[in-house]
Amino acid sequence: MDLTPDQMAAQRLAQAQRIAVLTGAGVSAESGVPTFRGPGGLWESHRPEDLATPQAFSRDPALVWRWYNWRRGLMAKCEPNPAHHALAALERRTPQFTLLTQNIDGLHRRAGSQAPLEMHGNIWWVRCMDCGARYEERELELPAPPTCRECGGLLRPHVVWFGESLDPRILGAAWRAAARCEVMLVVGTSAVVQPAAGLASVARQAGAFVIEVNLEQTPNSAEVHVSLLGKAGEILPELVG
Ligand code: OAD
Repeated sequence: MDLTPDQMAAQRLAQAQRIAVLTGAGVSAESGVPTFRGPGGLWESHRPEDLATPQAFSRDPALVWRWYNWRRGLMAKCEPNPAHHALAALERRTPQFTLLTQNIDGLHRRAGSQAPLEMHGNIWWVRCMDCGARYEERELELPAPPTCRECGGLLRPHVVWFGESLDPRILGAAWRAAARCEVMLVVGTSAVVQPAAGLASVARQAGAFVIEVNLEQTPNSAEVHVSLLGKAGEILPELVG
């Protein structure tokens, strides 16, 4: 009997020795973290060029920090959801597993994922514009802008903004994981922001079986092997079993 697409996806995930997973904002949506695009998304009410570029930060660091403080406050109240937990379980049973995330909320780690590659940084870390110090800062009542505990310089969120390059070590590791995996699972990303958006094609061209989980079709959908439409928090626990 022919397998249904979700059974085929579950079987591939169960049999693979090498799995790469790429997640986007949709994986945290059911935890209450707003996505960027689509109804209610952050970019509906805010312009990325005002808040998420190096130019915006040099123009008005206080404005940018007020926005990050607001997001930090929101994220502090969020808990990992069944999608994060399913990915942590998948990692535990898979010999070679790489989790690539565009999310900065830290929820994968809190669900038990060991070493997610945070391609766009982490909102709970800060970086000094003057001395380059970087450290974890969980204080929710940060002044806007906060100053460096080492040198008193201006701090910025340790995240990647539009127009900035990703950490080359992280990008290299992401590319290698995509090129070497047997199965790639792409969850909750609109697949419009490069370079993460290109990873599914890298995997596909290298011969991997590619599975997408999203509420809706994306630019990746036409070239994946299985596209499962629905909520990550419902589909992933089923897929991982
Ligand atoms: P987006 O907000 O662009 O896309 C979120 C995707 O998740 C959409 O395709 C939704 O259909 C899907 N989605 C929403 N809820 C879901 C759910 N419960 N289950 C499954 N899918 C769901 O977020 P990203 O693709 O992560 O970068 O955005 C990529 C980058 O663009 C972000 O990292 C950020 C943003 O601008 C920077 O800030 C540099």
